[in-house]
Amino acid sequence: MTFNPENYRCDFPILDQLVNDEPLVYLDNGATTQKSLAVLEAIQDYYHKDNANVHRGVHTLAERATKRYEEAREKARAFINANSTKEILFTRGTTTGLNWVAQHARTFLKPGDEILISIMEHHANLIPWQEACRATGATLTYVYLKDGQLDMYDLAAKMSEKTKVVALAHVSNVLGTINPIKEITAMAHQAGALMVLDAAQSVPHMAVDVQDLDVDFMAFSGHKMYGPTGIGVLFGKQHLLEEMVPVEFGGEMIDFVSEQEATWKELPWKFEAGTPNMAGAIGLGAAIDYLTAIGLEQVTAHEQELMAYTLPKLSAIDGVTIYGPATAKDRAGVIAFNIDGLHPHDVATALDYEGVAVRAGHHCAQPLLQYLGVPSTVRASFGLYNTKADCDQLIDAVLKTKEYFHGTL
Ligand code: ALA
Repeated sequence: MTFNPENYRCDFPILDQLVNDEPLVYLDNGATTQKSLAVLEAIQDYYHKDNANVHRGVHTLAERATKRYEEAREKARAFINANSTKEILFTRGTTTGLNWVAQHARTFLKPGDEILISIMEHHANLIPWQEACRATGATLTYVYLKDGQLDMYDLAAKMSEKTKVVALAHVSNVLGTINPIKEITAMAHQAGALMVLDAAQSVPHMAVDVQDLDVDFMAFSGHKMYGPTGIGVLFGKQHLLEEMVPVEFGGEMIDFVSEQEATWKELPWKFEAGTPNMAGAIGLGAAIDYLTAIGLEQVTAHEQELMAYTLPKLSAIDGVTIYGPATAKDRAGVIAFNIDGLHPHDVATALDYEGVAVRAGHHCAQPLLQYLGVPSTVRASFGLYNTKADCDQLIDAVLKTKEYFHGTL
């Protein structure tokens, strides 16, 4: 059956509203997606019926809460095809997961070692590595771009036996570029480096299989995949997590504590200090069920159709510059653009007058924008519930904005 976004919009009641007297067109999905009723109901149901602290009590509610929390972990495992739930750590989100890995990297990095990242990284996959380099004397090396995509010659030239970590975004949150991670992982492993994947912008849009990609670590967030905020997953290969030291210490992650020392629980719990975000994990589980029932292949095809529909129309507007790959097939549902002579914040405000919600700014990727030679851009980012009518409203709003400002210049 052909995917029809209209069939799913009723699952997101927030979309059914007027903003500035216009139907809301929500195109800020890269920042955060809306939550489906299934997610909201799962969280409410948990608080209504089962709320208790997990892994601590023997009473019935505690056992039910623990069961639901661990079921969510199994859903996350299946979603990314990890080998075992031992490889699924619940975190606050992608940033936390990447920070944990970069913290771990400090235990083996030394002066002369290199960490290879790209110029299209989000700050979450950049600053932790800057800090790891500062702490260890390792060097942060950048791969640059060609036609909005990773320059694979540059990448191959910079990969060497000095490379100890390769850390890349699966999908750029600004350019929408989809990086060839399987190929790069094979290159990283050939060089003896660990492969770390920032999958925040890929898991909501495409099927991601950690065994197929063979990545060593991968982080993603619940709130960008129709789930709640404050919950995410760090995947790590079991043998790597076994040797990794917890970053946070306290309740929940301990096995035995004496006055002067302590031992940790086994995986995955040794990383989950403190009371975890039970409701968040359960909500994430519901989001995974929701996406799985639709089928990520359908979501990918739909979003590519939206890209193929919107990109030519937007780029045909005189004075509009689009950043990133020229063709729809090379990008996930993200379009960053500028209108000649207009500040992106003015454009985003004008689009909001037309009911269109987009992000404007540096998108937490300042080195990328410096490389592109612009201080900021407008960004429209799409989700499964966006329709061609939304794309038309965006195009129309861009034309009106241009007319309005250029008329007043
Ligand atoms: N990382 C989110 C974005 O790209 C906040 O907008």
